[in-house]
Amino acid sequence: MQVSVRHAETGVSVIAFLFLAVSGCYSQRRQEPPKPTGPWMNTTLSADERADLVLKEMTLDEKVALLHGVGMPTDDPVTPENAPSNRGVGYAVGVPRLGIPGIDMSDAAYGVRSSGTNGRYSTALPSNVAAAASWDPDAAYEYGALIGRELRAQGFNMSLGGGVDITREPRNGRTFEYLGEDPVLAGKLVAKLIEGTQSQHVIGDIKHYAFNDQESGRNSVNITVGKRAARESDLLAFEIGVSEGHPAAVMCSYNRVNGDFACENQYLLNDLLKKDWKFPGFVLSDWGGTHSTEKASAAGLDNEQPGRFSFGDRYKAAVEAGKIPKTELDDHVHRILRSMFTAGVIDFPRQRFVVDPFAGFETARKIEEGGIVLLKNSKAALPLDSTKLHTIVVIGSHSDVGMISGGGSAQVDPIGGNAIAAPGQGATRWLQEVWFPTSPMKAIQARAPKATVKYDPGTDPAAAAAVAKGADVAIVFAYQWESEGMDLKSLSLPHDQDELIAKVAAANPHTIVVLETGSPVTMPWVDAPAAILEAWYGGSDGANAVGNVLFGTVNPSGKLPNTFPRSEADLPHPTITQPPPESAHFSGPASPEMRAAGLPPFQVVYDEGVKVGYKWYDAEKKPVLFPFGYGLSYTSYKYSELKVTSEDKVKVTFTVANTGARAGAEIAEVYASLPAAAQEPPKRLIGWSKVKLEPGEKRTVTVEIDPRFLSIFDEQKDGWTRLSGDYTIMVGGSSQDLPLKATINLK
Ligand code: BGC
Repeated sequence: MQVSVRHAETGVSVIAFLFLAVSGCYSQRRQEPPKPTGPWMNTTLSADERADLVLKEMTLDEKVALLHGVGMPTDDPVTPENAPSNRGVGYAVGVPRLGIPGIDMSDAAYGVRSSGTNGRYSTALPSNVAAAASWDPDAAYEYGALIGRELRAQGFNMSLGGGVDITREPRNGRTFEYLGEDPVLAGKLVAKLIEGTQSQHVIGDIKHYAFNDQESGRNSVNITVGKRAARESDLLAFEIGVSEGHPAAVMCSYNRVNGDFACENQYLLNDLLKKDWKFPGFVLSDWGGTHSTEKASAAGLDNEQPGRFSFGDRYKAAVEAGKIPKTELDDHVHRILRSMFTAGVIDFPRQRFVVDPFAGFETARKIEEGGIVLLKNSKAALPLDSTKLHTIVVIGSHSDVGMISGGGSAQVDPIGGNAIAAPGQGATRWLQEVWFPTSPMKAIQARAPKATVKYDPGTDPAAAAAVAKGADVAIVFAYQWESEGMDLKSLSLPHDQDELIAKVAAANPHTIVVLETGSPVTMPWVDAPAAILEAWYGGSDGANAVGNVLFGTVNPSGKLPNTFPRSEADLPHPTITQPPPESAHFSGPASPEMRAAGLPPFQVVYDEGVKVGYKWYDAEKKPVLFPFGYGLSYTSYKYSELKVTSEDKVKVTFTVANTGARAGAEIAEVYASLPAAAQEPPKRLIGWSKVKLEPGEKRTVTVEIDPRFLSIFDEQKDGWTRLSGDYTIMVGGSSQDLPLKATINLK
C-alpha cells in the first residue's frame, strides 16, 4: 500500500510504501547474530591482536571461505550460504562458529543500491561529482556518513563506494561517480567520505584501483602509463584517500595496468598499496576481476568477488599443494578480520531500523545546494525575483516530473519508481535512464506562487521557442545521462538539446539553462542564454536545491571539479580507443573460465602523462570554455595580503573579503608553479579553503601545504622529492583567476 507523506520543511510530498515501514518493523524483530564472546572480544587489544586470536582458531576451510564471495545475492536464488545475507551484490560468509559475522556488501556510490527491490528506502545523494563541486570536506563527510547510516539501517556492513579514479577521460560513463580531475581535490574529499561511512560501523571502500578511466573495454584494456606520471596523478588520489581516509578495503579494478590486471598487479597491490602506503586493510576484486589464483594471491589480492572461481577450491588446493604459502593465506585472512575489527562490524553488530527519508532529503538537498555551479550570469539574470515574474516557461528534461540520475551499479532506486515510467513499470533497469520524482517545475511554482508556470517538453525546439517567447523567463533543463557500462559518444548534449537551447534563447532573452550532467558538456550556444547553472545529478531533493539557487535563497558556491573544454578536439585523446571485438567489454554471463583467463589486451597509452584536466589545457595553451575551479556567485569577493612562509611546512596566508551585498561562501584555491627543473605543467592545486562570508566581511585564511603537493615523484629514488628552487604560489577563485602571487625559494 502506498502512502503520501509531506515534508514539513520543504513541502515536498514523499511517496512511501507502507510495506517499507512494515518491513522495517519486521526487520527490527529479526534475529541478529549474537555478539561473539571469544578472547578476541577484549577491546583493550589492538585490531591486529584480535584478528590473530581469531585466526588461530580457524580451520583451512574457514580461512578460504573468507577469501571469496558466494555469488550475487541480489540476483541469485536463496541458498543456505547466502541466506543470512542482506541480498546485496556481495557476501562473504564470515566464521559463524566463532561468531564472526558475514561481510554483507552493497553498492553505495551516491546511496544504497537495490533498496527498491528489497522493499526499502534509500536516499539518493547528488552525484559524487556534485559533492566534489562543493569542495567541502564537511559535506563529503556527511555524504559518507549518510551512506553508512542507511547501509547499516538496511542490514549491510560494507560499502562499495568511494570511487576516486580521476577524470582523465571526461567521456567516461562513470565520471558522475568520481570526484573530478585533480588528485588533491579528489583524494582529500574521498578520504572524508570514507571517514564518514566508517563512522557508522560500516567497512568503507575506495575504488577502482587503478586507472579504470574508461568503460570501453574495461575488462581487457591495458593502460600504459609512466611511473612518475602515475604517482603524481591517478595514484596520488588513491594515496591521499588511503592515507587520510583509512578505508578498511580497496577494490582493484577490471583493467590491466602496464601489462598486468590490476587485481594481480604486484606493483599496485603489494609494492605500492601495502608496502609503500602501509595499507593494513584488504583488497577485494571488482566483480569478476580476479584472473588467477597463485599470481593474484602473491600479488596481494585478498578477496575474490563475487564468486569463488580462483579463491575457492582452487585456492585451498594450492595451499595444500604448497603452491601458496600458509603465511600468505594467513596474511589475507588477517587483513580481512582486522578490517572487521577496525570498522567496528564485530563490536557493533548491525541493527536494522527504518531509514529516516526526511533527514536524507535534507542532507541531499544541502549537499546539492553546495555543489551547484553558476557558470554564467549576465546582467544579474539570477537570482529570480518572484515578485516581478508573471509568466515562467519551464522546458525540457522531464522537468515537470523529475530529474535524471546516474546509472549502473551506482543506481539508487527512486521511491515510487522511475518518474517517467508507465504505472507499474517503476523498476530500475541496467542501462536505462532513471528519473527521480523531484520536479523542478513544482519547485519553481512553489517559489513564484503568483506566476503562471507552463511546461514544454522541449522535444520540438521550434515549438518550445514559440512557448518561451514573451514569457518573463524561460528555464531550459538540459541533460546528459551516463552510466557504468558505457562511455559518452561525445561531450555534446544529446537529443537536439543544443538546438533547443539556441532556439529558446533566440526567442527569449531571459533564458536560463540548467544542466543535469555528470561530465562537462560542450556549449555551441554558450553566448545565447542569460544564465547557466550546472546542477549535475541532483539526487532525491534536487529540484528544491535548484529552486533555492534560482530564487536566491541559496547563493551558489560550487566550483568546477572538471574543466569544460571548448571541443573534444582539445582533449588529450580526441577519441576513446575502442576495444576490438575479441576484447570488447562483457557484462553478461560469461563463463568463470572465460572471466578467469581474461580477454586479450588492447592498448591505451596515457602519453599525456601527468597532464590531466587543467594541467593539459594549461601546458598545451588551449583555451577552455570554463576552467577547473571556476564558479560564480551572487556576491563578489576580493583577495589580498598574500604571505607565504616556510618553517617546517609551507603556509599560505591571505585575506578574502565579501565585497557584495549577499552572504556567500568562497572557495579560495591555492596553486603552485614548481621550479623549471621539475618539468611539471604550469600549475597544480596544492590546497584550498571554503570560506563563509557575510556581506562586507573579511577573513584571513591560512592554508597549510602538504609537502607531497610541492614534490615530484623521483623514479630513481622511488619516492617523493621536493626540488630546491623558486616556487610561485598563486591564490584566487579559479585556476584561471589567481590575483595573488608570491615566489618563495625552498631549499
Ligand atoms: C562495478 C563496481 C561495483 C561492482 C558490484 C562492478 O561492475 O565496477 O563498482 O561495486 O560491480 O556491483
